[in-house]
Amino acid sequence: MQIATTVREAKAICRAWRREGKTIGLVPTMGALHEGHGSLIERARKENDKVFVSVFVNPTQFGPNEDFDKYPRHFEADKAFCEGLGADLVFHPAPEEMYHDQHCYVNMDLLTETLDGVARPIHFRGVCTVVSKLFNISGADRAYFGEKDAQQLAIVRKMALDLDFDVQVVGCPTVREADGLAKSSRNVYLSPEERAAATAIYRSIRQGREMMREGLAASELEQAMAATIDAEPLMETEYVSVVDALTMQPVKTVDRPVLVAIAAHDGKTRLIDNFSWDPAEAGQTAEA
Ligand code: PAF
Repeated sequence: MQIATTVREAKAICRAWRREGKTIGLVPTMGALHEGHGSLIERARKENDKVFVSVFVNPTQFGPNEDFDKYPRHFEADKAFCEGLGADLVFHPAPEEMYHDQHCYVNMDLLTETLDGVARPIHFRGVCTVVSKLFNISGADRAYFGEKDAQQLAIVRKMALDLDFDVQVVGCPTVREADGLAKSSRNVYLSPEERAAATAIYRSIRQGREMMREGLAASELEQAMAATIDAEPLMETEYVSVVDALTMQPVKTVDRPVLVAIAAHDGKTRLIDNFSWDPAEAGQTAEA
């Protein structure tokens, strides 16, 4: 497994692979790797000749009062993790390598204006910018993203389409702990009490799926799921929102594929999760 810390090195390695006719799978990460990332790397390993994992805590996607400084960084463990899963290249640049003065940004409207885009106004601009750079640096054929960050996945898909990136964006299922909590690098922030309280999120997801099956209205479902989360004294719902799966705009009537997105605060830690629902597959329409 090779390690590159500069854009020039990473590009040279990928260029040589492409000259040999090899396909490249890109797994963008911010490190602190866990089984969720592992599932992306394994999928990339199966579907491509070469696997490129980036480990970069991207400063431009963190707001001024967010956790950029305390975000977990364990590069030696991440390297071993990638090697164990058969990655070919780990790209681990310093922020100065990725960003120059007066750097240009990639922006998107509509899809970034709801859900996490409200509480984190510059977040998706940073994500789109760094992901565009990684697409260009790697020249990847496929890029792998977790469905836990469903809004990010929808935005990256739309960006790849709109900007004619020649890459297939692949969404991979959320990996969960035994009690349903979605794996996340931020779970390490949780105290034992907060970790126990966090299970309310998955309880609300199970409840939401049941309500969808019963054909209840989006607003009823949002309220009931939020109440389940808020019943845990340590938890506070930021939003539970039923949105169109492609545009991320709120829907009242579940008459098309939707995303039910959740953000909740568990003590000082902000957790997100979601489930998708397609009434055509479920054979029913939930009315407003
Ligand atoms: O999902 C993440 O970890 C990040 O947002 C990503 C896609 C690696 C961009 O920094």
